Amino acid sequence: MVKVQAYEYIPKLLRAMFNNDRKSVEAFALLIGKKLKKEDPTVADEVLNILSYANAGSEVTRSINISPIPVDKETRYQLANLEEPIKCAEPVLCESVMSQLNDFLKERNMLEIFLKEDIIPPNSILLSGQPGVGKTYTVKWLSYKLNMPVITLDLANSISSYLGKSGQNIKSLFQYAKEQNVILFLDEIDAIAKRRDDMGDLGELKRLVNVLLKELDDCPFTCIIIGATNYPELLDKAIWRRFDRNIELLMPSEAERVVLIRRTLGNRIESINKEIFNILVKNTKNVSAAVICKMCEHIKRKMILDTKESNEINALKGYFETVFICNKNDKINFCKELKNIMPKISTQKISLITKIPYTSVRRYLKG
Ligand SMILES: Nc1ncnc2c1ncn2[C@@H]1O[C@H](COP(=O)(O)OP(=O)(O)OP(=O)(O)O)[C@@H](O)[C@H]1O
Ligand SMILES: [Mg+2]
Repeated sequence: MVKVQAYEYIPKLLRAMFNNDRKSVEAFALLIGKKLKKEDPTVADEVLNILSYANAGSEVTRSINISPIPVDKETRYQLANLEEPIKCAEPVLCESVMSQLNDFLKERNMLEIFLKEDIIPPNSILLSGQPGVGKTYTVKWLSYKLNMPVITLDLANSISSYLGKSGQNIKSLFQYAKEQNVILFLDEIDAIAKRRDDMGDLGELKRLVNVLLKELDDCPFTCIIIGATNYPELLDKAIWRRFDRNIELLMPSEAERVVLIRRTLGNRIESINKEIFNILVKNTKNVSAAVICKMCEHIKRKMILDTKESNEINALKGYFETVFICNKNDKINFCKELKNIMPKISTQKISLITKIPYTSVRRYLKG
């Protein structure tokens, strides 16, 4: 068998470069690096280093040299929104999810080692979970940790009713992402990746899924793709396989709620007593992290606005104005709990805080 020499890949590498085909550039550069390993380890290392730093290099020029976001050819609307990485605190998520996210970050910082060991680095994550569990926030945090900007697909501007145009838009966006070294965030990916057996005769949508599958396959490892969905069950099975990691984000556990409330209330936490804090933690079961953060922000504003009330009462009012209790038993338990920790509180006051009619509160407390 004739042995292929490293230099024989040079024409292919050049062709790929001039065609802006980043995936092939990476593949041929990788082959050249590997071929040269024995003959010339120094040059081989240099090639592999250039490959792994291809990402980092773009960061330096990014702020002055980022290309304009592609637009829809007819409407001229942008197909995506770009956000520069900004500092943000770690998302509050369970240990197993955090360890998966941290592993992904570690892997992305080990591109060089992976390439030398002939291992393809991971470049995609599919996040699923109910509204407000932190999917978008997690992407922002990853963007900060990796120091890569995020471009988020704008569904309204990209999906067109005209045949073939949506696919074209998705292609242009992927092309852009490949050239710019950004995190491509496909939020609500279910809108473009619905199960192909579940669409009746909607040929256009089926074609769109095929376009997406092909683009995901062709994506070079320097570009990171993150998908997010609230409806994982709607996704085409083939889409699932394209992502290196599928991570489900859950509603916060009690321990996570403690961290979320502490962190969001900040130093205001010192102005409420432990019992009230426990009420907030216990009564936010099945409440999303987003609503919990909103509740804490609301409480902080109330504490500043309504100085006539004690901070405890403001905290409870803030809770009731953001988290809605629908279940009657929960309402009864809440009123009893309140009376228990504040024996002097009047029925009138409980009614005022909870917005439950006075007569109902009286009945709940008697029962
Ligand atoms: N796990 C979390 N840790 C810390 N903050 C969180 C978390 N989840 C949500 N938040 C807060 O709530 C806000 C809204 O959450 P986010 O937009 O990430 O939810 P989402 O899962 O993307 O929801 P949707 O499905 O509606 O898009 C975030 O900006 C952040 O302030
Ligand atoms: Mg979101």
